Amino acid sequence: MPLDMIIGTQWGDEGKGHITDLLAAQADIIARFSGGDNAGHTITIAGEVFKLHLIPSGVIHPGVTCLIGSGVVVNPAVMLREMTELKQRGVDVSPQRLKISRKAHLITPAHIALDKAKEKELGAGAIGTTQRGIGPAYTDKVARSGLRAGLLDKPEELAEAIYAHINEKNRVLTELYGEEPLDATAVSADYANYAQQLAPHLVECSLMLDEALQNGRSVLAEGAQGTLLDIDHGTYPFVTSSAPTAGGALTGLGVGPKNVGRIIGVAKAFSSRVGSGPFTTELDGELAMRLRGTGANPWDEYGTTTGRPRRVGWLDLNILHHARRVNSLTEFVVTKLDILSGIAEIPVCVAYDLHGQRINYLPSSLEEVAQCQPIYETLPGWDEDIMQVRQLADLPANARRYVEFIVEQTAVPVSHISVGPGREQFIPVTNL
Ligand code: IMP
Repeated sequence: MPLDMIIGTQWGDEGKGHITDLLAAQADIIARFSGGDNAGHTITIAGEVFKLHLIPSGVIHPGVTCLIGSGVVVNPAVMLREMTELKQRGVDVSPQRLKISRKAHLITPAHIALDKAKEKELGAGAIGTTQRGIGPAYTDKVARSGLRAGLLDKPEELAEAIYAHINEKNRVLTELYGEEPLDATAVSADYANYAQQLAPHLVECSLMLDEALQNGRSVLAEGAQGTLLDIDHGTYPFVTSSAPTAGGALTGLGVGPKNVGRIIGVAKAFSSRVGSGPFTTELDGELAMRLRGTGANPWDEYGTTTGRPRRVGWLDLNILHHARRVNSLTEFVVTKLDILSGIAEIPVCVAYDLHGQRINYLPSSLEEVAQCQPIYETLPGWDEDIMQVRQLADLPANARRYVEFIVEQTAVPVSHISVGPGREQFIPVTNL
């Protein structure tokens, strides 16, 4: 059986958790491959809305094994908190079904303090990070001074390493940023405690997945963030510090490309982003409020991790072209089509005007992106509420046309359309 991937095509928050939930039912293993608790998935357990940041959202499917892959940065305190909350709701989070790669890296309170200090210093130029210590943890990894999860097996060694790590970071915190130092003794004691609880979950990630794939088991790689937040292929420096793209799934899990099956690009029917950085089709005023929602329900455009209102705008096909190229997408899942109901005319960005030239790509220079003007094609809207539609044939003609337009323009088929937050609010698509 192959390795299938669910990849965000925009700036994250495309509704990946929703489609993961649908496909998880058929998977044997669900694996996170990048990022950390900067991600957020809203799931519903027994009618109760619940937010997960680190543990794959597939955990609520009883038969599925969940894996935190080698490319992930793990905050053990968050991991244990999510495990406790899941356990209280009757979800099995035992080591038999919840695994952590020995090669994943640990986030510490020093990483979080550095993330906050750096953002504070950047002031108006801040990236708008989630302040979860993601960037500093990956910085240590790349600098070859990170703390791997494998150390959880050796609490004493870990405590010593944490003690030295906190003391080193305290110098940066106090001398460079003028912040308060952290208590190295207390933090190392905390980590020794986390180690005892998490050590039984450790696995050799690549080995585990290779055996599973060879034995005909199916693996679903659950992406976090999105293509435009990729450290190489996103709107650098306004990106996260990992690779949430298809390539990142392979390196983050230790699996080669021959195993790959479906590469599912999740595309919201309009655009959104949290944090700073360019956004060519951004809207403000009433239309933005209309797309964002009030925040009263979990489907509205407010960050799952930070609660920040998301910036919103029209769909940008240059971004979908970019995501297709970077990820070799086999299909799109179009989410939140229901939100566009009632808008009389819907502009879709089909190209950019850059200094009088029509371009169909996203320039790598942010200065150039800032100078790009969106070229819109306006599609007719529909009035009907489509949240109860379950078959393509029952969609209003203009809603169907909107999705057809995406397929025509990108030459990538659409396999599902989501029309609401509920598990059943999906329209399977076969002939578009
Ligand atoms: P960091 O990953 O916390 O370092 O944040 C870097 C950028 O990525 C910021 O603009 C964040 O808002 C954004 N970001 C990180 N994770 C997510 C996510 O899960 N959804 C949307 N944006 C995210």
